[in-house]
Amino acid sequence: MAIMNWNDSYSVNITSIDIQHKKLIDMINALHDAMAQGKGRDVMAPMVRDMATYAVTHFANEEKLMQEKGYPDFAAHKAQHDAFKQKVGDFQAKVADNKLGVTLEVMNFLKDWLSNHILSVDKKYAPFLNEKGIH
Ligand code: FEO
Repeated sequence: MAIMNWNDSYSVNITSIDIQHKKLIDMINALHDAMAQGKGRDVMAPMVRDMATYAVTHFANEEKLMQEKGYPDFAAHKAQHDAFKQKVGDFQAKVADNKLGVTLEVMNFLKDWLSNHILSVDKKYAPFLNEKGIH
């Protein structure tokens, strides 16, 4: 069962970014399914790693767009990305060391962070970038 569902309220009206956000939601749901099925560290650790890698790529894409177009809140936005990378890096290290299973607490953090970030931070650049011709 999905822990997170895409809906149009998440759209930033930029096709490539919406696709990336949907993929992140899919990856979080796949991780949640694996956790619910009691999969082991051998399955979960690569899934956490792949999600973190994809998130980093996505952040880099967003940051490039924001920088190229002179988005005024770029620094604050990037700081949120950096904090997320740090937190997920900590999870990864603990999962890899077998000190932490992928728990509901971790899942809820990922889901809540992504949902809040898209709805309150990513959505802020949407009108600015749309105005600059990015769709
Ligand atoms: Fe879509 Fe700012 O992350």
